[in-house]
Amino acid sequence: MKTGEQNSFLLEPNENNRIGKVIGIVSGKGGVGKSLVTSILSVLMQRAGKKVGIMDADITGPSIPKMFGLTENATSSELGIIPQKTSTGLSVISINLLLGKEDSPVIWRGPILSGVVKQFWTDVLWGDLDFLFVDLPPGTGDVPLTVFQSLPLAGIVIVTSPQELVQMIVRKAYNMAQSMQIPVLGLVENMSYLACPDCGKQIKVFGESNLDQVAKELDLKILGRLPLDPALAQLCDQGEIENLDLTALDGAISTLLKV
Ligand SMILES: Nc1ncnc2c1ncn2[C@@H]1O[C@H](COP(=O)(O)OP(=O)(O)OP(=O)(O)O)[C@@H](O)[C@H]1O
Ligand SMILES: [Mg+2]
Repeated sequence: MKTGEQNSFLLEPNENNRIGKVIGIVSGKGGVGKSLVTSILSVLMQRAGKKVGIMDADITGPSIPKMFGLTENATSSELGIIPQKTSTGLSVISINLLLGKEDSPVIWRGPILSGVVKQFWTDVLWGDLDFLFVDLPPGTGDVPLTVFQSLPLAGIVIVTSPQELVQMIVRKAYNMAQSMQIPVLGLVENMSYLACPDCGKQIKVFGESNLDQVAKELDLKILGRLPLDPALAQLCDQGEIENLDLTALDGAISTLLKV
């Protein structure tokens, strides 16, 4: 891609929306906790007093509605699609909120998936938001490419975990962002450690990660390290992520507030 070319793909915003910062949550690999990190950042950002929306851009594997216990379908007006509100007032759009049954499989090819994500930007009545967090599917396929090219991203947060090939995962996402001139706002390491329930000591279940080294090499900020916590898994399963009690990503919020 040539310098400046990225802008030519940018979609016009919906005239009814005023969206401040759009932040993508990405990883070069699946299952590292992108959706959980997206949800936590959104909850904490809202607690910081900001108006927040979540775009679930994972069309074939949507998991945001479940984490927030959303089961009602989104509705629409003649002006567009109205996002669902969570119990604390976050705005959410996801294919699961449009298709009806949460176990309906989405068997669509890349261009259609990309088209849906574009509509999530152009046809959804987000209204006034300070932050829109975009939960991306894993990897570097059609949908991440569409989000990178079509939405005015303020930057991305890369999620990784210590048991993975951290270096490769981070570099892949970093290189994709670099090639499209999207700022990388920082790294979040998920499942970083387990806090001993008795003494509070941090147990490195997957050994020491080399995240510090990678962050230094690429000159990236580490925004936070999230523990592996059964309570978090339970909140996700029960659709109660808004009840979370966590300080591990407070630093991430301070950084994102300054973007
Ligand atoms: N730190 C954690 N502590 C406890 N459970 C976790 C943690 N991180 C993730 N999980 C659990 O692991 C599962 C996978 O996490 P999540 O859906 O966020 O991953 P993902 O990267 O979005 O996956 P995908 O690539 O499929 O979109 C979730 O059901 C969540 O409950
Ligand atoms: Mg996910």
